[in-house]
Amino acid sequence: MQIFEKKSALILCLSLLKEKNKQIGFVPTMGVLHKGHQSLVEKSIANNHFTVVSIFINPTQFNKEEDLKKYPKTLEADLELLKNTGCDAVFIPSVDEIYKQNVVAKSYVFGGIENQMEGAFRPGHFDGVATIVHAFFDIIKPNNAYFGEKDFQQLQVVKKLAEIKNLPVNVIGCPIFREKDGLAMSSRNVRLTSKQRAEVPFIYQTLKETVRLAKTTSIKELYAFVEKEFAKTALDLEYFTIAEETSLEEISTINFNRKNRAFIAVNAGSIRLIDNLAI
Ligand code: PAF
Repeated sequence: MQIFEKKSALILCLSLLKEKNKQIGFVPTMGVLHKGHQSLVEKSIANNHFTVVSIFINPTQFNKEEDLKKYPKTLEADLELLKNTGCDAVFIPSVDEIYKQNVVAKSYVFGGIENQMEGAFRPGHFDGVATIVHAFFDIIKPNNAYFGEKDFQQLQVVKKLAEIKNLPVNVIGCPIFREKDGLAMSSRNVRLTSKQRAEVPFIYQTLKETVRLAKTTSIKELYAFVEKEFAKTALDLEYFTIAEETSLEEISTINFNRKNRAFIAVNAGSIRLIDNLAI
């Protein structure tokens, strides 16, 4: 497995492969890799000649300094996992290598899908995500790029980015990986105390229950149900939204002929967790 810190070296390596018509797969990450990431890397390896994984904690997508500072790092274990999975190359640039002296996000318009949920509660977040993903797509020029559905809104934003900027990449969404008790795998989970860890499976349980109730209950009642359930816990519900999958527009009645999804964000102390489930 080759490790690159400089984009020029990575670009050179990839240009040799592209001359031979090799397909490049790309998995962007911020490290602290878990089985969910591993499944993306495995999918890329299975469907491309060469797989690049980036590990880069992107400062411009954090709207809280505290969150950025506390973002966990496990580089050695990450490299071990990637090597054992059969990854071909890892790109670990410095902040300087990517942003030079100008550590700011560019501004993007995605037709409204960027404004609700994560966009509303984390102002500037998707500009930061789009800035870094766009930069990586420009450097790597992958044929296929893989994103987990846990960050479902991010996945739709990246699809839109590829569409509006005419980028020749297939953006592929991959299912959420869950712990045995249903908790969606996330790099942030390692920060949970054992008490919080015991409580957070409630997020998925509640999502599952709302999907079951959605068959017979109005959306208004579902929202009230979720609020009432979380009020009984130490978890702080940030939002619960039922939206149409592509437009991400909040819906007021469920039309089972369309694809709808329940989205949730919850704070366990200072640790912010998100999840979603198709209805
Ligand atoms: O999902 C993530 O880990 C990040 O948002 C991403 C896509 C790697 C961009 O920094």
